[in-house]
Amino acid sequence: MTTPNHKPSPRGTAARAASVPDVPLEDRYVLLIEAVTDYAIFMLDPAGNVSSWNSGAQRIKGYSHDEIIGRHFATFYTPADIAAGKPARELKIATAEGRVEDEGWRVRRDGTRFWANVIISAVRDAGGTLIGFAKVTRDMTDRRRLAELERASEVSAQVQITRENEQKRIARELHDDLGQQLTALKMSVALMEATLAGKAETAHLVPQTNALKTEIDAMATSLRRIAADLRPPLLDDLGLTAALEWLAEDFTKRYDVDATVHIEAGTPQFNEFASTTLFRIVQEALTNVARHAKATLVRIELARAGDFLSLEIEDNGLGAALEQPPGKTSFGLLGIRERVRQLQGAVSFVSAPGAGFCISIRLPASAAQ
Ligand SMILES: Nc1ncnc2c1ncn2[C@@H]1O[C@H](COP(=O)(O)OP(=O)(O)O)[C@@H](O)[C@H]1O
Ligand SMILES: [Mg+2]
Repeated sequence: MTTPNHKPSPRGTAARAASVPDVPLEDRYVLLIEAVTDYAIFMLDPAGNVSSWNSGAQRIKGYSHDEIIGRHFATFYTPADIAAGKPARELKIATAEGRVEDEGWRVRRDGTRFWANVIISAVRDAGGTLIGFAKVTRDMTDRRRLAELERASEVSAQVQITRENEQKRIARELHDDLGQQLTALKMSVALMEATLAGKAETAHLVPQTNALKTEIDAMATSLRRIAADLRPPLLDDLGLTAALEWLAEDFTKRYDVDATVHIEAGTPQFNEFASTTLFRIVQEALTNVARHAKATLVRIELARAGDFLSLEIEDNGLGAALEQPPGKTSFGLLGIRERVRQLQGAVSFVSAPGAGFCISIRLPASAAQ
């Protein structure tokens, strides 16, 4: 192939170029830049006016070639950045240092914003005179959103850990400190009772000391229940399996709904974060059963299949027509979803009016050990 302006090229380029018939090298670069749609690639003249445009630029920024050629590139910046003199500053740095890179909000033709990664490079001729700038812009909005979501999820996991630790501390103080004091009080009352019972003139007071002891017992029971609700001691002492069995038993007693727990052999030794998380999920699911289901049976099943664990909580109650996605006030199901995400798992809610409610969770076993 011979073209008047075909300059000698490096060997590899020449070999590849030979397969494109009759297209001058310069034109091939234009075609190449035009074919790139993920990046806005365009030129500015030395004053910052747009002098070339590619289809990626049109896709990302929304302007057609004819609309934007000749307009100053400050058009792409937010009013705050323009007021702060950012476009001019970036050209100044690119001129002095050869290039400038920036991440920030930019504005599309329709006024919407996108998070952009921008590189501006100074372009000079062979004599070193500035002939303009090459600008490459990439839309990073999705990446930024993903990073924000990941960060929000990390923060929420941290908040949960802090809350669990705080509840654990309060539960322990209630149990150890207040619990001990109640025990001591009961012993004092018992001693007093023995003294009163021993004398004929005070024996009639014994029923009153008895009533006091009953009240102290009731207080101790309340205290144990409050402490266990804050943080079931079984979870820390004997692990998830025992804690789930206790939870189901307690639920059956409190709500007269038959709750059964099946834990398949081969489920791993859960780490503290995973046992707390799975326990809180089942607790929330059971709260929903008590509140919404009017069920007679709930089945809680934890099983292992290969590298995955599954947890199901299913009731035979009224069920619900599920909103997709769940409404803004449905924090229970949202909370379950978030906790599952923190264990790198997936959750599905299956229900229909009259057909019971099933929460089905699958997570990698490695996230729980
Ligand atoms: N076990 C269940 N049986 C029937 N409906 C349920 C059950 N669990 C959840 N729901 C339905 O899903 C909705 C969302 O639950 P949730 O997010 O926990 O919010 P909340 O319990 O505060 O209403 C509930 O309002 C209810 O209509
Ligand atoms: Mg709820």
